[in-house]
Amino acid sequence: SWTTGNVIEEQVAAIRAQVGTKRAVCGLSGGVDSAVAAALVQKAIGSQLTCVYVDHGLMRKGETEQVEKDFVASTGVNLKVVDAQERFLTALAGVSDPETKRKIIGREFIRVFEQAQAEIVAESAGTGEDVAFLVQGTLYPDIVESGGGTGTANIKSHHNVGGLPEDLEFELVEPLRQLFKDEVRMVGQELGLPEEIVQRQPFPGPGLGIRIVGEVTKERLDLLREADAIAREELTAAGLDREIWQCPVVLLADVRSVGVQGDGRTYGHPIVLRPVSSEDAMTADWSRLPYEVLAKISTRITNEVADVNRVVLDVTSKPPGTIEWE
Ligand code: XMP
Repeated sequence: SWTTGNVIEEQVAAIRAQVGTKRAVCGLSGGVDSAVAAALVQKAIGSQLTCVYVDHGLMRKGETEQVEKDFVASTGVNLKVVDAQERFLTALAGVSDPETKRKIIGREFIRVFEQAQAEIVAESAGTGEDVAFLVQGTLYPDIVESGGGTGTANIKSHHNVGGLPEDLEFELVEPLRQLFKDEVRMVGQELGLPEEIVQRQPFPGPGLGIRIVGEVTKERLDLLREADAIAREELTAAGLDREIWQCPVVLLADVRSVGVQGDGRTYGHPIVLRPVSSEDAMTADWSRLPYEVLAKISTRITNEVADVNRVVLDVTSKPPGTIEWE
């Protein structure tokens, strides 16, 4: 019978058999899948695993710290953090087009990750423990979807940590290949991962970079991070995390509108709330959030986030709107 205990036991044995005395590398994104895959491999081979976390500066408030501190504390994993914030900001400077942003972020991510990987390989050279494996958090639905090969139009170029090119030098370790998302969460919980990671809602690989409509700058990221943190805090306080699929918070950086705050006229930016309900993100409906919760979020954002004088609600289903704005 299926129990998380059995799955863990089986996978630990399989990983040990596959990796032997060699070493493995795993990219962490902050998401559930890569975290659970890494924790399973860590349980199997311990210090033979090194995780890499690329800090692209596009994460939400507290998320990098969650990986750096809570994940490491709960797993004891070797973690190499690469601070690439400047690099991503430089690469994104002057770019407003959504697909161009996505491509730049995906490209830079792969470059930084591969460089970190090469450093880990170099460090282990001569120790007799070659780095021969790359761990990926591929789930069963990922395999079915890509294997199905149906001609779904490429609406947005998705960027995933799991979407790295299969480097010929490395063999893949994919301990979640037979699992669905809810099973992955159960395994993660059983492995003792922090609740914030195990129950995390979907968040796109390109992060806040595709939630700023307009050019991505440090100032805009900081502003959006504040607004997003307020929305998340209030949704959690209202007990709505399990009810909604996710709630992108979007900054319309190229739009300004007139407002009145304190005793003066303002000319600030709007923030869009995009709460959605969904089963699989292929289709979605806008969530009918309680007015009091929306009111609280709106009041707090306009009071606490400088340069934002308006909060608007996206009431579009998918289709026709996608969940993310870019
Ligand atoms: P859309 O905007 O296409 O989003 O309706 C569907 C779901 O996918 C997430 N998303 C991404 N996830 N890399 C990811 O890992 C990406 O590049 C990416 N773009 C969108 C989005 O948050 C939603 O859950």
